Order: sequence, then C-alpha cells, then structure tokens
Amino acid sequence: MPGRERRRVSTLPGELAEGRKGAALQEILESYVAELEPGSALPSERELAERFGVARMTVRAQIERMAHRRLVYRQQGRGTFVAERRLAHTEHLTSFTEDMQARGLVAGARMLGVDTLRAGRGLAARLEVPAGSRVARIRRVRTADGVPMAVEQTHLPARRFPGLADEDLATRSLYELLAERYDVTIAEAVQRVTVTTLQAADAELLETPRGEPAFQIERITRDGDGVVIEFAASIYRGDRYEVLMHARRDPPAALS
Ligand code: GLP
Repeated sequence: MPGRERRRVSTLPGELAEGRKGAALQEILESYVAELEPGSALPSERELAERFGVARMTVRAQIERMAHRRLVYRQQGRGTFVAERRLAHTEHLTSFTEDMQARGLVAGARMLGVDTLRAGRGLAARLEVPAGSRVARIRRVRTADGVPMAVEQTHLPARRFPGLADEDLATRSLYELLAERYDVTIAEAVQRVTVTTLQAADAELLETPRGEPAFQIERITRDGDGVVIEFAASIYRGDRYEVLMHARRDPPAALS
C-alpha cells in the first residue's frame, strides 16, 4: 500500500494550487483509508503532509472531511483511526441473514418479543387486510458477528402464517422459514428509507449513544401473486450502514 500511495502521490505536482491539491488528496486519502483495517491508526498530519507534499492545513481539512463522513474517527490525544466499514443496504431483495452472509458475517438476532395484535387502520392498509385482522408481530435486534445493527419489527398477516409465533426466530431466518414451512416465494418489495435520530430505547438496544443518526427503513414485501406478506419497520445504525441505489436510465423514448 505505501508503494501504491507513493505512485499516486506523484500525480500531485508542486505547482497545483492548494485547493486543487486538496481535491486530489481527498481521493488519495480515501482510497488509502479504504484499504486499511478498521481501527488502524492514520499517520500524523505532519507525516501525511510530508508524504503527499501538501500543506498540513490541507491534510487537516481532508481528515476533518473524512471524520465528518465517518470514514475515520478521532480520539483526543491518540490520533485518527479508520472507522468500521458500513454495510450497504442494497437494491437486492435479500433477508438480513443473506445480507450478512454475503459479507462474510454471521447474522444473528436477539428476540425482543413475538405477539399477535389486531391491525389498526394504518397497519391494515399496509398489509392490505381488513382493519381488525390478526397480525403476528416479531420484534428482534439484528446482529452481525454479535454486534447490534438494527432493531426490526416485522408484521405478517396471522391467518396466513399459523404457528409462526412458536418458531424460534432468534436462530433462524424468517424468509427461510416462510419458504420452508409456508411455501412462500418472496418476489418483490417496496422500501422507504428516511433519516431519523436514535431514541433512548433503540439507542440502548443498538449500543449506540442516543441522538445518533439512523436510517428508518420500511419494507412492504409481496409474494409471487402480488399478495403482501410482511410490513417491516427497522432502525439501522447510521454509523454502520449506507443505502446503495442502483439506478438505470430508461431509454429516451420511455422518459417522454
Ligand atoms: C430484512 C428486511 C425485513 C425482513 C428480514 C428477514 O431485515 N428488512 O423486512 O423481515 O430481512 O430477515 P431474516 O430472514 O434474516 O430473518
């Protein structure tokens, strides 16, 4: 890696204005940080300034920028460290378990409770069932390698999934269970992502300070016949997640 930086540094000619050097340095530092293990220390500002041939102020500004974007974090008197990577919540319709497996992490859950309730108008509309219908509610803290990632509340029409509440969802995937026990093929979902801050209860469950930014993600999932099978509302830690969208441009004719 040092070799790689040095090669790239040679693209920062001395005559470049400091502002343009800042932009170039940003790119270099970001790829440098991306290759370091989370938790490892960055060289000091002075060392980085010397190495990249820029003013110390330029380095400081770029580090501040990265700290703001939570790519690195600072510890008073100790230096700057590489932050944990964020896990992307992608456009693929995956279960939490599949999502974590794809990243080489072990998905887990801590049960907060399973119960049955009567759907109020809002919930009934989302599940496309009559108001007052019985709904199974599963509340879990989802973990990756034992670290809490999200607080998740899933609602499913109870009539379609009898006995769901007796299943052990701390150790198994809900989507796997739906496929195996209820023969459900999950086909599509609409997700809504909004930004929120952690309230005390969720902050505690996520082992994160209260008031920290978080994603609120709602998912309405349908089976192959277009029937709604779940409405899930989750709070994902903002420091460990990002939402990645893959946008494809339609042919010009379709846009008009
Ligand atoms: C994600 C979705 C939920 C879904 C869950 C199933 O977290 N946001 O809507 O219920 O995956 O995950 P698993 O099959 O791992 O229990």
